[in-house]
Amino acid sequence: MKIESVGVVGAGAMGNGIAQIAAVVGLKIVLIDVTDAALAKAVATLSASLSRLVEKGKLAPSARKAALARIETSVDYQKLEAADIVIEASSENTDLKIRILREVESRVRSDAIIATNTSSISITALGATLERPDRFIGMHFFNPVALMPLVEVVQGSQTSPETAASVRELAQHVGKVPISVKDSPGFVVNRILIPMINEAFFVLAENVATAEEIDAGMQLGANHPLGPLALADLIGLDVCLSVMDVFQNDFGDLKYRACPLLREMVTAGKLGRKTGQGVYTYDKVSTPR
Ligand SMILES: NC(=O)c1ccc[n+]([C@@H]2O[C@H](COP(=O)([O-])OP(=O)(O)OC[C@H]3O[C@@H](n4cnc5c(N)ncnc54)[C@H](O)[C@@H]3O)[C@@H](O)[C@H]2O)c1
Repeated sequence: MKIESVGVVGAGAMGNGIAQIAAVVGLKIVLIDVTDAALAKAVATLSASLSRLVEKGKLAPSARKAALARIETSVDYQKLEAADIVIEASSENTDLKIRILREVESRVRSDAIIATNTSSISITALGATLERPDRFIGMHFFNPVALMPLVEVVQGSQTSPETAASVRELAQHVGKVPISVKDSPGFVVNRILIPMINEAFFVLAENVATAEEIDAGMQLGANHPLGPLALADLIGLDVCLSVMDVFQNDFGDLKYRACPLLREMVTAGKLGRKTGQGVYTYDKVSTPR
C-alpha cells in the first residue's frame, strides 16, 4: 500500500515530531488533538524545529514552507477519513488509547492502517479491541523524533505481514531505520535499556562508585554517549520505575525488581530534569550544575 496521507492523533512531544518528519518528505498530514491551544502549540514547536534546520543549512526555506503547508490541524476526527494511515500518539493511558483507536477506526477507510506509538501497552491487547486487528500495528518512534533514527515496528499477534511491510516502508520513507519486533513488554530497546539503568541505581546504592564515576565508566568504557544515571534523569525516574514495575508484573521474574533507591527517589519527588532534581541537580535550563 502506498502511503501518501498520514493522520496523527495527539499533538504532543511525539505527535508533532512525527507530523514534522512526515511533512518534510512530502506526505500530507492531518494532526488531531483535543484543543486548538494544543494544536497551536504543536505547530509553533514544529515550525521552530524546521527553522533550526533551515539555520543549520539542512533544509531549504522553501522546503520548510512547503512542509508547513502540508500540515492541517483539527480537533475533528472526521478529517481522518482520507488518511492511508493514522498514527496514534496520545497520552500513555490504556483506556484513553482504546477509546481513541475505536473512534479512529470508525472514521477511516476500511483499508487504512492504524498504528500506535505506545511505549508500553500491548499491541495485541489494543488490537483485540478493534474490528480490523490485522491492520493495526505498533510504530514506536524515539524522542526527539526528528533526531532519533530508530522505529520499532511492533507486530501484535493479529497484525498482518502486509501491514508490517507497509509500515516498515513508511518508516524508511520518513528517514528512519525500522526494526521488526514481536509484541512483548518494553519491545527491544526499553527491555534492555531500563534494566541497565536500574542496575546503575543498585551500583550507586551499594556505593560501588559515585554517580559521576558510574556515568563516566559507561561513557568511556562502553562508549555510551550519556551515562545511565544522567539518562535516567533525562527520561524521568518515575518513567524508569514504572517500566520496571511493568516488567516485573508481566514477566513475573524477580530479575526485574526495581532498585529501592530508584523507588525512594521517585517517592521523594526527585524525578530528574523535569523537577530540577534527580541523581544530579539541574538549574532552570536543565543543565547539570
Ligand atoms: N515522550 C517520549 O519520550 C516517548 C517516546 C516514545 C513513545 N512515547 C509514547 O508516545 C505517546 C505520546 O507521548 P508524548 O510524550 O508525546 O505525550 P504528550 O503528553 O506530550 O502528548 C500527548 C498529547 O495527546 C493529546 N490527547 C489526549 N487525549 C486526546 C484525544 N482524546 N484525542 C487527541 N489527542 C489527545 C494531549 O492533548 C497531548 O497533546 C505515548 O503513548 C508515549 O508513551 C513517548
